[in-house]
Amino acid sequence: MIRLDNLTKVFDTPDGAVVAADHISMEVPRGEICVLLGPSGCGKTTTLKMINRIVRSTSGKVFLDGEDTSGLDTEALRRNIGYVIQQIGLFPNMTIEENITVVPKLLGWDKQRYKTRARELMDMIAMDAEAFLKRYPSELSGGQQQRIGVARALAADPPVMLMDEPFGAIDPINRAVIQDEFLKMQAELQKTIMFVSHDIDEAIKMGDRIAIFREGKLVQYSEPDELLSAPKNTFVESFLGEDRALKRLNLVRVRDVISDEIGTVVGNDTLTTARERIDAHGYRDAILLVDDRRRPIGVISRDTTGSHQGYCRDHMRGLPAVVNLGDDLRKVASLMFAHDTTWLPCVDDNGTLCGQITQRDMTHHLGSRYRARRSAADSEKPVGS
Ligand SMILES: Nc1ncnc2c1ncn2[C@@H]1O[C@H](COP(=O)(O)OP(=O)(O)OP(=O)(O)O)[C@@H](O)[C@H]1O
Ligand SMILES: [Mg+2]
Repeated sequence: MIRLDNLTKVFDTPDGAVVAADHISMEVPRGEICVLLGPSGCGKTTTLKMINRIVRSTSGKVFLDGEDTSGLDTEALRRNIGYVIQQIGLFPNMTIEENITVVPKLLGWDKQRYKTRARELMDMIAMDAEAFLKRYPSELSGGQQQRIGVARALAADPPVMLMDEPFGAIDPINRAVIQDEFLKMQAELQKTIMFVSHDIDEAIKMGDRIAIFREGKLVQYSEPDELLSAPKNTFVESFLGEDRALKRLNLVRVRDVISDEIGTVVGNDTLTTARERIDAHGYRDAILLVDDRRRPIGVISRDTTGSHQGYCRDHMRGLPAVVNLGDDLRKVASLMFAHDTTWLPCVDDNGTLCGQITQRDMTHHLGSRYRARRSAADSEKPVGS
């Protein structure tokens, strides 16, 4: 949907030519978010600005929906592209409402429609319309202004969005909330987005694909899991950090790793039955106790079954934690560390048991990619090497 073909920008400066973007070729499919990631000065903003022609390219082409944009009138081009600039750039002499509705007004929307839209957008960015729409940008915090910048870019519902560090000035807690909101919106609206970030964790969370830039060049363009598990060179490796394998925990959900094999007992089972099941399943420490609707409520430890008799309901220990099918493995790992356990029960939205997740399943799932790659590499080696 967005295709860059050898897009290049050379700035002439008093100190000589600066190649800010060097033959960038890449494609962002319709409805996807592509994150441009890389150190300061690597050419992210320049690349973005060549797409809506705020910066004129030195050479190369930009295609939108297969159409070479060099033939398009600049105004028409920009109307179809929402743009969130790195320095926020709200108009200081306009109220928040006026800022948000600039493009809809240019497009000739009637008053009722753009006013309703402004309120809708305030809801989306979790800001109170009544409190903020009448204020001026200088009366907002940096993070609030940044959210308004995002709302303004979305106002006329453009199919393409260019977002330059749109959440950079927002504190981590609110940033996570806005990122989640934005992803929810994106799941519905399916815009095609180029999103600049400095932050690897943000890139992994937001990006369907990530483009790593270095000194004006596109070094690697991959899906997040591919990037983290197979960085192309030492620059990408060091940029992603030594804990890059751990970052993959963010990308995998419990439902991808869950094993539905799990032994359970109910309150009316005897401890003898519990012991038999613990042995039959080969569990080391304990077995899960569920209620009559298969909701986990506690555990029966192996030790208890050896030293006591009677019914499970009278001997259960509290449950360390349960995880949801939609939780990511980072949360699961964190809970396992906090509770010093190697397994956790998994439930659906109703709290009903679906299975369990174990540390072994997690390492196996994440490790399978490296194993597959190693064996492919081995089979390519000549015999005897
Ligand atoms: N108008 C300009 N004139 C001369 N050089 C420029 C101009 N704009 C950008 N540059 C240079 O081009 C290079 C790329 O800049 P760009 O703004 O694209 O980087 P960036 O990746 O967005 O960095 P940051 O993460 O700091 O925002 C830098 O070396 C910068 O100094
Ligand atoms: Mg920049």
